[in-house]
Amino acid sequence: FSLQPYNTFGVDANAKYFTEVSNTEELKAALSYSTSHSLPLLFLGGGSNILLTKDFDGLAIKLNLKGISEENFSDNEVFVTAKAGENWHEFVMYCLHKNYGGLENLSLIPGNVGTSPMQNIGAYGTEIKDIFVSCQVLDLEDLEVKTFNLEQCRFGYRDSIFKQKGKGRYVILEVTFKLTRKEHHVKTEYGAITSELKHLGIENPTIQDVSQAVINIRQSKLPDPKEIGNAGSFFKNPTIPLAQFEALQQKFENIQGYPNGDMVKVPAGWLIEQCGWKGKQIGNVASHKLQSLVIINATGKASGKEIFDFSTDIINSVKEKFGIELEREVNII
Ligand code: EPU
Repeated sequence: FSLQPYNTFGVDANAKYFTEVSNTEELKAALSYSTSHSLPLLFLGGGSNILLTKDFDGLAIKLNLKGISEENFSDNEVFVTAKAGENWHEFVMYCLHKNYGGLENLSLIPGNVGTSPMQNIGAYGTEIKDIFVSCQVLDLEDLEVKTFNLEQCRFGYRDSIFKQKGKGRYVILEVTFKLTRKEHHVKTEYGAITSELKHLGIENPTIQDVSQAVINIRQSKLPDPKEIGNAGSFFKNPTIPLAQFEALQQKFENIQGYPNGDMVKVPAGWLIEQCGWKGKQIGNVASHKLQSLVIINATGKASGKEIFDFSTDIINSVKEKFGIELEREVNII
């Protein structure tokens, strides 16, 4: 069964078995089939953060649980719950249409609601941990439905318990967010938003304006996976000790960094560009010409292995030039 339509890289890898589930009962039935046939499992959400480097010799389960519900929490707050299979951007648009605030900076992020807590998706000054209340999961060890609150999720930069201790153990079924109904906290500090709003001539932006600014920025430099296969940022922005950053500043005076205590976060895109990768193509794979942190399936014919090897070449050259080891953000299967 070809998984090509189910990963945004558009890699043509096969799964031995495939099924789609639209509720917890169907999911449990698929799990019991995998147990009785000793099949390894691969869960597919929006497919926007995986790289399939080979065929999968097991059961791939596409999570299609749908539905959005809400509950008034207070005069100014509403709890909105979306099932895992809801498309993230459509969910953001649904909330903005109702004038619920909190998700606007996260407009146009590919993927589904169910994977958003996995890596604590974030962009333009917001991470989902800022509006997250809880998520409901199925624990694969005892097949019980459990709830994880904000603290239990252990969110960090592109990180959560679901990528650490709980890796492979939980399937996220739904996520609840706390959004504002009237007094919105508009976040426009991120440089690119400030300049886009200025460009649009907007002085007192609404949450819908911020969303539009984010959409404009993303469309101007990030490739649309429907047109060019990609999985967004391929690497995390590395965090290095201040002393190491200062030493690098001596050698590379243009190096950028965002201090955080005694550590500094360095934009991986800049490091990769400095190594000459921006827009560079090898075979079917390239680094995007407008944002080198994004690796693209340039011809549509790339294999996962080719993309993986390309990313290894990038890691090696950044390591050689800057002594910094980039870490992949995309899940390698
Ligand atoms: N930069 C370069 N060259 C490049 C790319 C970036 O010099 O080729 C420089 C930019 O000039 C800028 C800095 O790097 O000064 C940061 O660039 P940008 O604002 O584009 O953000 P980023 O750090 O590259 C992160 C997220 C994105 C998110 C943006 C906006 C990670 C790994 N990526 O990218 O997330 O949209 O910030 O908040 O943290 C994703 O996860 O898939 C993703 C796209």
